[in-house]
Amino acid sequence: KRRNFTQSLIMDKLEVFGAKKLKGSVRISGSKNAALPILAASILSNKKIILKNLPNVKDIQTMIKLLESIGSIVKYSKKKNSIIIQNKNKLKTFASYNLVKTMRAGILVLGPMLARYGNAIVSTPGGCTIGVRPIDLHLKALAKLGINYKIIDGYVHAHSKKKLKGAKIKFPKKSVGATENLIIASSMAEGTTILSNCAIEPEIKDLVNFINCIGGKIKWIGKRTLKIHGANNFKKNEYTIMPDRIEAGTYLIAAAVTEGNLKILGIDPNIIKTEINILTKLGAKIKIKNEQINIKGTNDIKNINIKTAPYPGFPTDMQGQLMVLLCKSKKRSIISEEIFENRFMHVAELNRMGAKIKTKGNKAFIEGNTNFKAAELMATDLRASVSLILAALTAKGKTTINRIYHLDRGYEQIEKKLRKLGANIRRVS
Ligand code: EPZ
Repeated sequence: KRRNFTQSLIMDKLEVFGAKKLKGSVRISGSKNAALPILAASILSNKKIILKNLPNVKDIQTMIKLLESIGSIVKYSKKKNSIIIQNKNKLKTFASYNLVKTMRAGILVLGPMLARYGNAIVSTPGGCTIGVRPIDLHLKALAKLGINYKIIDGYVHAHSKKKLKGAKIKFPKKSVGATENLIIASSMAEGTTILSNCAIEPEIKDLVNFINCIGGKIKWIGKRTLKIHGANNFKKNEYTIMPDRIEAGTYLIAAAVTEGNLKILGIDPNIIKTEINILTKLGAKIKIKNEQINIKGTNDIKNINIKTAPYPGFPTDMQGQLMVLLCKSKKRSIISEEIFENRFMHVAELNRMGAKIKTKGNKAFIEGNTNFKAAELMATDLRASVSLILAALTAKGKTTINRIYHLDRGYEQIEKKLRKLGANIRRVS
């Protein structure tokens, strides 16, 4: 019998027997962070929407549960990783704390609920381990489209007297989520909206392409500027979610850190140029062929000083993984985490494995020259968890990683994929 999530939350661990060079080819799954806003945007339409290449991970299941909880009919298609969504009836405009607390992207249903129905009660996501993660940018920008809101007992209560009305909005700070919420809301607002200083992560471009594919009228008119004409009648269509660039980057580092030799399949190299350039500078040998990246690791990793930044900068979602690789360098490196306040939780665990990393404020000083030692570890957030796996893959002996439910939120079949590449990794319940 399938155990429920709460049980797996307490029980599941990973055991990794490391010091093996990874070899072979790995196919990249659909992008979690593209799929989440696209699922939220399905609220705009009452026509049939077919989504393909959804990753089968916990966050996506949670978002689907959220849609079902408001009345969407979601069917799993016979084709793997595809679903059919149809909103035949009026949807509820309530998203509960239970669903939003484990997956912050739940807040993305606020924009489409307001655009379609003029009211919504959505749980605030609260803080989370990697930082405070407020939603003020989402709310202030939605207010410019004409909504009023109050936060009562942890819920955003929002409504607008009339249909949302297009406006000129300049985001004071680049935010992926706020840009997405506003794109979705204004694609059904009356008139024209201009959004400037938008986040331009590839997942945002995928969201725009999806909305246009179901009848939206959104155009990039500058590098960070969108012009959106409100649409009313969305149409039936199907859409294939883009591949996961963070998963691809994670496997690139898996190859580099184990001195392996991998073919990464099904990823557009153009969307991970920054990562490829950095890995090349650090000594990895990378060859690109259309939608395939071949990477060969080296035992002579160079050092680097680097900052995380909004796209096209180096992604915060790859910071922990890169840190593991930099531990292998012969010289000292510095990483500045510029996006989240508390995203160094992997550091303490990596140090327990023999790394020499010190942190001061938002900077991590990585001494290098580390041969990771197997240990018993505790995973904290999604990307920290995968960083511990990367370190464990290089360590002789058995590393046990506890609390791996974070991993299941965002990496599709990670043990299976790694095993196929020669890793000795298993899940213990
Ligand atoms: C998205 O989170 C991703 N999540 C994150 O991935 C990713 O780390 C992050 O973007 C940055 O790239 C999804 O796409 C579902 P932001 P999001 O709004 O949208 C501040 C993963 O591991 N801010 O761009 O929440 C915020 O605190 C996850 O897959 C405000 O101040 O990130 C942060 O410092 C983790 N007010 C910065 O902006 C707001 O209203 C950027 O956050 C919103 C954000």
